Parts: sequence; structure tokens; C-alpha cells
Amino acid sequence: MLYELDDFVSDCRSILARDAGPAGREEVRTRLERLLGNPDFVRQYCGKDVPQGLRLLYEDPKLGFQILAHINDKARKSPPHDHGASWAIYGQATHYTDMIEWERVDDGRDPGQAELRPAKQYRLDAGHAGIYQDGKIHSIDYPDKARFIRVTGTNLDRIDRLRFDLATGKVHRMTAQQAT
Ligand SMILES: [Fe+2]
Repeated sequence: MLYELDDFVSDCRSILARDAGPAGREEVRTRLERLLGNPDFVRQYCGKDVPQGLRLLYEDPKLGFQILAHINDKARKSPPHDHGASWAIYGQATHYTDMIEWERVDDGRDPGQAELRPAKQYRLDAGHAGIYQDGKIHSIDYPDKARFIRVTGTNLDRIDRLRFDLATGKVHRMTAQQAT
């Protein structure tokens, strides 16, 4: 039996209802890898015939988490950013994403200024999922046609998040679902 989107949704609901903390999210991450191991799912939701754009696959009315398909045509390199008071799981469907996780090395006293240092760098290949817990800062860099599924604890459009300018150290607030 192939693991389908519906199975993933029901697993997310039961896991996160029981444990919405880091351990529960880690379970969601492993289930997302299982979903990405279903070639029919990847073809249907992230295949070459799926039009470019951001598509909401599921939003839980009670728990608030979202499952989104990021169908990219063009390569993109994001600035470092967090996910505000949420968390995010990125599951690579096609091609790859180069991830950098950053840590702040300033004292955090100036809300408009930050100094970041790369803490971890790795390539997320198709079929793999990475998790970014509360407050984690990361940046993403992917080639043309790289597509991924993202699960977030809440709709990120509704919460404040931070974006960091590496050249100047400036901290910007972001609200739109940009920079993923
Ligand atoms: Fe992100």
C-alpha cells in the first residue's frame, strides 16, 4: 500500500494532537519522507506538469498546521530567515535544496542588527526532509525546477518573522510568505 496524502494528513493530525512539540514534529518529518517515497504523489503534486506556484494542499482547522507544495520553475537563493513563532519542515520532492542553518553570534540586544554564523550546511536531496524548530534561522538555495513540500505549524502569512541581510547585518520583519 502506497502512503498517500490522505494518510499523511491523518498522521499529522494524530501526531500533532498528541505532541505538538519538537518530538512530534520529528515524527511528522519522517512521515513526510515516507510520502515523498511515493512516486505517484510526487508526480501528481510536484511533477513536471504541475503549474508553477505555491499551492496549499491542506490546512488543519483545529491545529492550524499547513501542508504546502512549492512548485518552483526558477532557481532561487533566499536570505537567512526564521519562521517566527512557528516551525517548518521542508521535504524535497524533485532536484535538491542546499540548506544553511545559521546561529546568531551577537548578544541580541539590538532588534535591528544581527551577526550570523553558518552552523550547519547540507544538501537536501529528493526524498529527504529537514526540520527547522522554533526560532531556527536558515537559508535555502535551489536550482531550476526544484520542488518541495513544506509543513508549517501555522499559516506563516499571519505571523511576524525575521529576515537577515548578511552584508549589512540588518534585521527585517517579514509577514508575507516570501523567502519560504
Ligand atoms: Fe524557511
